[in-house]
Parts: sequence; structure tokens; C-alpha cells
Amino acid sequence: MHTLLQNQSFGQPLYFFKTISSTNDYARELAERDEPEGTLVISEEQTAGRGRMGNSWISPPGTGLWISLILRPPLPPSQSSLITPMTAVAVAGAIRKVTGLSAGIKWPNDIIINNKKVAGILMESSAGDRLIKHLIVGIGINVNTEDFPEEIRERATSLSICSGKKISRMEILISVIRQLERLYSIVIPGGDPAAILERYRSWSVTIGRMITATRSGTKFTARALDITATGGLLVRDQTGTTEELISGEIQNLIFSAKK
Ligand code: BTN
Repeated sequence: MHTLLQNQSFGQPLYFFKTISSTNDYARELAERDEPEGTLVISEEQTAGRGRMGNSWISPPGTGLWISLILRPPLPPSQSSLITPMTAVAVAGAIRKVTGLSAGIKWPNDIIINNKKVAGILMESSAGDRLIKHLIVGIGINVNTEDFPEEIRERATSLSICSGKKISRMEILISVIRQLERLYSIVIPGGDPAAILERYRSWSVTIGRMITATRSGTKFTARALDITATGGLLVRDQTGTTEELISGEIQNLIFSAKK
């Protein structure tokens, strides 16, 4: 245990691996064995790192931060949606604090710098009868990655590429865990998430821009208007119809004018 994590309840207990298939998979096993809220799994490398929408997450050794945190929010599954914006604000906030870089958030929870993705979040939950049994918050941050495989080179970046210098993975880790613990204590139990959503909105690289999304298998273009009180994305399509997107993948048309 790093001394700087000693006073935190998140990060205890801590499981550290040199290599593992996926920290999210191991954290889920631990959660099913009743490990407590705050349990953290870290690995230097993942051999089968997973991203959202069934994508894989490239997790080579030594350069990134691949972590999963077990949460047990005392909430019904329908009210857990705020944990997603909360995590995005914690990760973007930690990056901003440690590096000074202007990390933005692409809805729902990609962390973006210079129009490229620097970190991703994979939230996986297990619902009980009434309340959530556990939530696994998986976070991947490209910290000192200098080169990416061809297929993601255009879309991915790292903190070292953006800042032009090496960044301490330990400092990022400690800051992310601190921010998560602070924001979680606001959201749970029944706290007022307004300030967190306000922060999310101010760091959003999606609000005000044209996006494309998919509805019943068909792509459509819309303008992103706002983030709703439950973390959804409010959009207006070209017929003037307004709707709330709850989850999924959107493409930011990043060069569109911001309104
Ligand atoms: C995404 O943007 O698609 C989400 C990426 C999440 C990657 C992290 S790395 C640690 C944790 N373990 C995994 O297998 N995935 C998440």
C-alpha cells in the first residue's frame, strides 16, 4: 500500500498484479466473494483488457494505469446512472490537477485531450432484488504511452504525448482515487449531484456540437443540447424532435460549430 493511499477508504484492500486478463473480471470475482466497497485491483498489464461496446482495450505493461474499483452504492439500479458522470469528472479532474492539461469529457465517459481519447471508463453492475449488489468501475488511462497500434493511432493519445513529458502514474492514481472518494461521498447517500453535473457540463466536448447516434439500427444526426439530471444526453434531431439518450456510443462531429 502506498502511504498516500493509507488514509483513503478507496484502495483498501488493494490487489496488485504484474499481469492479469482484465482487472474488471478479477474485481467482479472479488465482489462476488463479498470483498468490501473500496477494494481496488491494479495491474501493470492486461492481456484481455475490455472496453465499452465489446471493444478490446490495449493495456501494455509499464505505460498506463489499468484499475478497477468495487463500489456498493445503496441505490436501486435505476438511480445508479450518476456514478458514470461522477467517474468521468473524477478522472478528468485528476488529469487536469496533475498535468494541467485541459481534459474534456465526451459523453458518456470518454476522456479527451486534443480531440483524441486519453482514458476510458467501463462500468459493470450486478443488480440485486432492490438495490445494486455491486458496481465495478474500470478505468484505463494512457499515461506514458508513446506509440499506439495502427488501428487506433488516429484516435488515441496519452498524457505524455499531450504534455511532452513523462507523467507519474502514481500521482495520477492517487489523485483519481481521492477525487472518486470525494465525489462519491457527495453522490451517496442522496447528496446533491448538481455541482458534479455542472463540472461535467463545463468540461463536456459534446454539448453544443453535432453528433451521430444510432436509433433502432439507423444512424441519425442531432445536436447535443445538454446533460440531464440523471446523466443522459439531451439531443435535438434534424426534424426538431428532442430526446434523451441514456447510454450507447455517439460520434462527436468534433469539427462542427459549437452553438
Ligand atoms: C472504453 O472506453 O471503452 C472503456 C475502457 C476501459 C478500460 C479499463 S482498463 C481497467 C479495466 N479493466 C478492463 O478490462 N477494462 C477497464
